[in-house]
Amino acid sequence: MSLGRRELLGAGLAGVGLLATGCTPSTGEAGTTTAATTAATTATPPAFPAGFAWGVATSAYQVEGSVRADGRSPSIWDTFAASGNRIADGSSGAEACDHYRRWRTDLDLMGELGIGSYRFSIAWPRIQPGRDRRTNPAGLAFYDRLVDGLLDRGIAPVATLYHWDLPQHLEDAGGWESRDSAGWFADYAGVMFEALGDRVGSWVTINESKVIVEQGYQRGWMAPGKNDLEASGRVLHHLNLAHGRAVAAFRASTAKGTIGPCFTLAPCYPADDSEGARAATALADLRENRLYLDPVLLGRYPDDLELLHGEMVAGIAGARRDGDDATIGPATDFVGVNYYSPVVMAATGPAQPYPLAANGWQQLHPDGLRDVLLRVHRDYDAPVQVVLENGIPDARGQEPLHDPERIDFLKQHLQAAAGAIGAGARLNGYHAWSLLDNFEWAAGYTQRYGLVHVDFESQRRTPKDSARWYAAVIRANGVPG
Ligand code: FCB
Repeated sequence: MSLGRRELLGAGLAGVGLLATGCTPSTGEAGTTTAATTAATTATPPAFPAGFAWGVATSAYQVEGSVRADGRSPSIWDTFAASGNRIADGSSGAEACDHYRRWRTDLDLMGELGIGSYRFSIAWPRIQPGRDRRTNPAGLAFYDRLVDGLLDRGIAPVATLYHWDLPQHLEDAGGWESRDSAGWFADYAGVMFEALGDRVGSWVTINESKVIVEQGYQRGWMAPGKNDLEASGRVLHHLNLAHGRAVAAFRASTAKGTIGPCFTLAPCYPADDSEGARAATALADLRENRLYLDPVLLGRYPDDLELLHGEMVAGIAGARRDGDDATIGPATDFVGVNYYSPVVMAATGPAQPYPLAANGWQQLHPDGLRDVLLRVHRDYDAPVQVVLENGIPDARGQEPLHDPERIDFLKQHLQAAAGAIGAGARLNGYHAWSLLDNFEWAAGYTQRYGLVHVDFESQRRTPKDSARWYAAVIRANGVPG
């Protein structure tokens, strides 16, 4: 996509290329067929609407570094990484890809690859570093320059407000467990809408509340590292409230663009035809998808919520006040979808019929992307959707720059996305995770998801084969045969 600066302002992810509408049920929707029957990759010819947003994604703590620059204060991830034995290689995002200082050349590289849309996130601790939550002009200035730099290169900015790096001072004040967090988030969002709302076409509220809830508060594998089911329920409700209040702040602002949530969705399939497998799949679908989609997109929690763990349900119920559901569920302009892996359930527990990526948790099932897009289309009133993340780490033993597995992965997932469009899904864009190899949270630098290789010693960037392949896809507005 190559739009001029002016077109980029008004467009946003909800405004581009709405050619495909209508709802045609697919034969492979989540929960309606078994894993075995959906194994074949769709044969639908790849077709993308004109103006389709071809993008890449990153997030602030994973790429920026410069954690003390220009008044930034620590986030919960700085604290978590420093608290010992939490990160696989003992590292942190303190330097990461040094994108905070190298952003100009990173944007040039994106321009050379023909990238049309850049999903980045804003580091809240740069914007409101102190307990008084006063705006830090130097922190704001970074994103101001970044957005102008994108627009100058004809790249549409997609700004995520929260990608897991809560200011530590807000964690100290109760963090997402406190109901006040919704107000803190809406205030911060308002600052950003005012500062960049004249130029950012697409805003994303909160990245993957499921991962915050499960990894941050249930398993403790991610910041803030808690194991507290009841708290995880409260946190989920407050994240939902924060999303809804930020959308309201957006509507009340003079910002010109569009806004939407971002979910990581897992199509759930029964491993076989048994009743037990089907029941386990329905429960998995509640836990993986409906728990997050329903409140935000339908304005109500699922009716069968009580099937989840009692302490978590109690956490949600304890946090919920009259009127909250309406606050959580205002209409958004698009739905952001991250897709990595399906969940397959046998009566006895999770099954793994598909090959695993090198991260050890991601089952490779490209048609799952088609299934989740069609499912959202069917069950949530046919919203405009955009893929905000999809990717894999380098294969074990891969040469640094030759990544045929990633090319294959991208090709099959893009074919699946095209299949969803062909069946009626209103998909406007696709963002590969990630532009750069970066700090992969608890895995540190042990997993490389970039289309572009980063030598973390020299900070030298070198496009992998997949970056060149993706550039050709963008030029063709489609997948080479
Ligand atoms: C997603 C995160 C993203 C990255 C990928 C691999 O869940 O949103 O930051 O870590 O996983």
